[in-house]
Amino acid sequence: MDAFVINGRSQLRGEITVNGSKNAALPLMAATILASNQVTLRSVPRLADIRNMQRLLAELGLDVEESEAGSGPRSLTFRTLDESACHARYDIVRTMRASISVLGPLLARRGYGRVSMPGGCAIGDRPVDLHLRGLAALGAEIALDSGDIIARAPQGRDGRPRLRGARLFLGGPFGSTVLGTANVMSAATLAEGETVIESAACEPEIVDLANLLNAMGARVSGAGTPRITIEGVRELGGADHEVMPDRIEAGTWIMAAAVTNSPLVIHNCPIDALMAVTEALKEVGVRVTEAPDTADPLRATVEVISERTLHPVQITTQPHPGYPTDLQAQMMALLCHADGNSVITERIFPQRFLHVAELSRMGAQLFRQGPTVIVSGVRELVGAPVMASDLRASASLVLAGLAARGTTVINRVYHLDRGYEKMEVKLQALGADIERVDASDLPADLHR
Ligand code: EPZ
Repeated sequence: MDAFVINGRSQLRGEITVNGSKNAALPLMAATILASNQVTLRSVPRLADIRNMQRLLAELGLDVEESEAGSGPRSLTFRTLDESACHARYDIVRTMRASISVLGPLLARRGYGRVSMPGGCAIGDRPVDLHLRGLAALGAEIALDSGDIIARAPQGRDGRPRLRGARLFLGGPFGSTVLGTANVMSAATLAEGETVIESAACEPEIVDLANLLNAMGARVSGAGTPRITIEGVRELGGADHEVMPDRIEAGTWIMAAAVTNSPLVIHNCPIDALMAVTEALKEVGVRVTEAPDTADPLRATVEVISERTLHPVQITTQPHPGYPTDLQAQMMALLCHADGNSVITERIFPQRFLHVAELSRMGAQLFRQGPTVIVSGVRELVGAPVMASDLRASASLVLAGLAARGTTVINRVYHLDRGYEKMEVKLQALGADIERVDASDLPADLHR
């Protein structure tokens, strides 16, 4: 098992380019099930979760061809060869709960889908009741059997299985659902008649998915707003689509620049999708400025400049366009260095605080009360052996290690590899003293 060894107090310098978005690419890949012809996705990141989705789609009868390897942006081309295999098995789904995204496309295109119930994960229970409620509203018959969701489309007018358009409310106790919206929106593209999704997720990744679906011939409008309307069509063709840049990776690099007080330049940054984050950072004392000649605010070049003294703030995570839960842990690592007490409240995944105990091992002063953590700023963090857990909690430990005095060892970095492509290589190129090692080579007291 790999670990990172970081010698802190890194001063970063130079430029970094953001990859294609993991959280856009996964539902985009699932949506290729809907197509009658080949679909090419460009700038697909090289990540563990993406490889898992490729494996799942291959099991579901799709041929996935990768552009020449190399190190530049990668393209994947998807073609359906066989529509008889419709079972997303537990051993893949348990490693990546985003596998649930194939259910809507399977139902819409093939009339049937069997997907293992995704378990919970480090950040919470992760129910899928809203997905199932939305698909049932489209006429799907849904049953649970031996841990699998079994879904069938009703018979259409011509006797073939076909979902039926409906007006449905998709909000839950924590607001909208991103992958639930992706599932229902994708399924509705081939349904008979019109579908209206109320309380849809407004995340930029949903807009990216709607852009792909429309390029395939779907009729989706309102993506990015809480009300999405889909006019069902009979068939969807092929398309060639560029995956949007990863706003969470971009936000992580912005925080890395801020926590090490380094003037970083970040390319391909979806700054327009990070307004809640840049607004919060402005209050902290970190300015993110776009290059004047920015043509596309979703692919901008930005520079990060931090004040010497960071100010405490109050952050509450919310559905987009609110502050993203996926940048909560990284902001906490930054606020450990602020001059005063900050308050972070997690409204999306109230248990998403696995980084709290690990940051405390590095000397952070954190006081948790349920979904809220008081972050009392300290003069410095001190390096220590810590444990990665959920993807973003692991990223926050890297940021803390870069700023800390002394050496930090982060165990189980496979969590990071799910969402960050060669993170240590990118940071080394910026001058960070970080290396990936085999944890078994570490002295016992550093290996957790
Ligand atoms: C997506 O997960 C992202 N994953 C998550 O990023 C992100 O944290 C999350 O959206 C919120 O922004 C991908 O896009 C692959 P939700 P998703 O359904 O869609 C509750 C990362 O680090 N809920 O929007 O699964 C749920 O428990 C990952 O990259 C229900 O109650 O999240 C949560 O409290 C982690 N019933 C809230 O809604 C449901 O049926 C939001 O979850 C579905 C969700």
